[in-house]
Amino acid sequence: MNEKIKFEKYLSERVLKLEESPTFALEKKVDALDSQLKEKGSYVVRFGIGQPDFNTPANIKDAAKQAIDENKTKYTASTGIKELKEAILDKFLRDNGLEYTTSNIVAGNGGKQVLDAIMRTFVNQGDAVLVPRPYWVSYTQQIVLSEGIPLEIDFNENLKIDMAHLRSLIKEHGRKIKLLILNSPGNPTGAVYNIEELREVAQVCLENDIFIISDEVYEKFIFGNSRHISIASLGKDIKDITLTVNAVSKTYAMTGWRIGYVAAHADIIAQMTKIQDQSMSNPCTPAQWAAVEALNGNQDSVEKMRLEYEKRRDYIYKRLNSIKGIKCSLPEGAFYVFPDVSGFYKGNVKNSFDFSSELLEKAYVAVVPGGAFGDDRFVRISYAASMDKIIEGMNRIEKFCKSLI
Ligand SMILES: Cc1ncc(COP(=O)(O)O)c(C=O)c1O
Repeated sequence: MNEKIKFEKYLSERVLKLEESPTFALEKKVDALDSQLKEKGSYVVRFGIGQPDFNTPANIKDAAKQAIDENKTKYTASTGIKELKEAILDKFLRDNGLEYTTSNIVAGNGGKQVLDAIMRTFVNQGDAVLVPRPYWVSYTQQIVLSEGIPLEIDFNENLKIDMAHLRSLIKEHGRKIKLLILNSPGNPTGAVYNIEELREVAQVCLENDIFIISDEVYEKFIFGNSRHISIASLGKDIKDITLTVNAVSKTYAMTGWRIGYVAAHADIIAQMTKIQDQSMSNPCTPAQWAAVEALNGNQDSVEKMRLEYEKRRDYIYKRLNSIKGIKCSLPEGAFYVFPDVSGFYKGNVKNSFDFSSELLEKAYVAVVPGGAFGDDRFVRISYAASMDKIIEGMNRIEKFCKSLI
């Protein structure tokens, strides 16, 4: 008997309502298929998980090794060591024009854990959180885990917030709305908000007492003429209602090290600190020292990765748009493309989940169904994969799409 069914009556409604992460579920499936294929000399092209294919730069690894050798392996303050907080303060000032003190900072166990702690800090049962579609899969589920209600905002032709829909949701739900999540550059779309768009969002939030979570974990991967702007930098009033979240995970190819952080008003941070004290103790100590080096050390590796991602984006965008039946807008940042594949929905392939599973089973390419991000017309392709793999993956996708026509 399925364990979940057996114990269902004992388990919390919260956990039973929670959905499994589609990206982790896909990875499990892909691992199994990949090991079968390896025996036959083949493999799956993995465009699923948002994980840099680069290794953590050597200076960062050395800093962690040194920390271990110096026995910096004990508990620390739950919100992070002073050196890390200072490195974070310097980063916010240097990159985002944001001035904070250490009382404004919490470092946690990756961007994801920090976001979860923010939800727990703000959300009461039944409170609403505005989530622009298409969204990163964990936002809605973290809201559910805090017993809140995700309110999905529609998007416009640029895959960004439809402001008219945002205003109508606020009119309808009013005071129940506590937070709005902004993610620029965005996962899964790669969309980047410009200053006018940010001003409009900020204004609406200020007028309606809605706090903003600005998730900026992809800020360093921006292409062409686009530039990253932190919404908190638009003025003191907006800074006070914004929680700016970032992490070393994507920027420095440090996904497994688990260091993320947030800057916010000191009164919010003081309350959030209680959650970190009671639930997490502290982020891994040697990883904190690695993050100090990541933020303070030489940044050349970040630019190298950015240039490589840009090359891959250009290639994959061109290839996708040359396939009859696919429509794809040019992402300005992050390392994802989000093509519309709904032109292929017929017969066995009724939605993005069918499309993705057929693509995996028939062509051995892993992508994440757009349905998981809140729009079923699309699939997400992560190009955090080597150019060879991208070329091979695109050849397979092209052949697969032809077979569907
Ligand atoms: C939009 C977004 N925010 C936050 C995160 C969390 O990153 P971390 O690995 O630091 O927890 C991710 C990871 O995929 C992400 O895509």
